[in-house]
Amino acid sequence: MPLQKVDKIWMDGELVDWDDAKIHILTHTLHYGSGVFEGIRAYATSQGAAVFRLTEHVERLFNSAKVFLIDIPYTQAQLVDAVKATVRANGLDECYIRPIVYLGYGEMGLNPLPCPVNVSIAVWPWGTYLGDEGVKHGVRVKISTWQRHDPNAVPPAAKGTGMYINSSMAKVEALKAGYDEAVLLSPQGFVSECSGENVFVVKRGKLFTPPTSAGALEGITRDSVITIARDLGYEVAEANLLRSDLYTVEEAFLTGTAAEVVPMRSVDDREIGEPGPITRSIQETYFAAVRGQVDRYKDWLEHVHT
Ligand SMILES: Cc1ncc(COP(=O)(O)O)c(C=O)c1O
Repeated sequence: MPLQKVDKIWMDGELVDWDDAKIHILTHTLHYGSGVFEGIRAYATSQGAAVFRLTEHVERLFNSAKVFLIDIPYTQAQLVDAVKATVRANGLDECYIRPIVYLGYGEMGLNPLPCPVNVSIAVWPWGTYLGDEGVKHGVRVKISTWQRHDPNAVPPAAKGTGMYINSSMAKVEALKAGYDEAVLLSPQGFVSECSGENVFVVKRGKLFTPPTSAGALEGITRDSVITIARDLGYEVAEANLLRSDLYTVEEAFLTGTAAEVVPMRSVDDREIGEPGPITRSIQETYFAAVRGQVDRYKDWLEHVHT
C-alpha cells in the first residue's frame, strides 16, 4: 500500500513540510543500520485522537537507544509531546506513528560514537497491516528458513533499524511462497515471533506466548492482550513452543501495533481454520479498548487534544 502523504513531519524539533523531510545520502544510519525506531498507533475516540500506550512506546525507544549507546538529545516527556504535536498538526484522528532516532551526517565508518543523533516523527493513515480480510478470517503463515537473531549477535529486545533486514528476508520468503506472514524460530529451535508481530496459541483452552528469551520482542500489544485475556478469564503463560506445537493448536493469532490482533488460519499448510471463540473475544475487546470504549483500559490512551 503506497504511503499516504500528510502535511507535516517533525524533524529535530521543527514541523517541516512532508516533501521537505529529507536527509543527506551520507547519513550514517542509511549505511550501517545504526538507528532505533518505534511503531505506534493513534485511534479515534469520543474525545478525538488518542495515542495507544504512547509513554510505553517512548520508553521502549529510549531502551533501544540505550542498548546501542545512542544518547537521544530529548527527554521522554519531550518526545511524548512531539508525537502528540505531530498528530495534531496533521489533523488526523487515526494514524500510524513512526518515531526514528538515527545517526546523521558528518562521520563515516563503524564507530558511531562521534555521529550526530537526529530524531524524526512521521505519521500517516495506515490501515491494518495484514489487511481487513486477515483480521476477519485469519492469515496463512510459514515457518521461515531464516532464524530470529541470536541474542549474542544482535539484541532482539531492541528495535534497531538494521536488525529488520532479518524480518524483511523472512517476510519476502513467505510472500514469494504464497503465504501472508513468516514465523521465525530462535537459534535453539523455539518459536520466537513473526517478522513484525508476537505469537499466541491456544491449547486446551489456555493461551501461550513465547518468552523474550526465545527472541520475541516485548510487544506492547502482546502485553495488552495478556491483560485483556486474563480479564476475560483465560489463563495465559509464557512457554517455549516447538514448530510442531504450532501445527496442532486449537487457535492461534499474532499481535502487533501495525497488524493489531490477527488470527492465524494455517501454519505451514496445517489448517487451523476460521478464528475461534477465544481469539474473537480478545480481538473484539482489543479493538474496543484502543478506541476508548472499555472503561477499564482508558488509561492506555493518551489524548492528543487536551
Ligand atoms: C519484531 C517485532 N515483534 C513484535 C512486534 C510487536 O510489538 P508491538 O506490539 O509493541 O508493536 C513488533 C512491532 O513493533 C516487531 O517489530
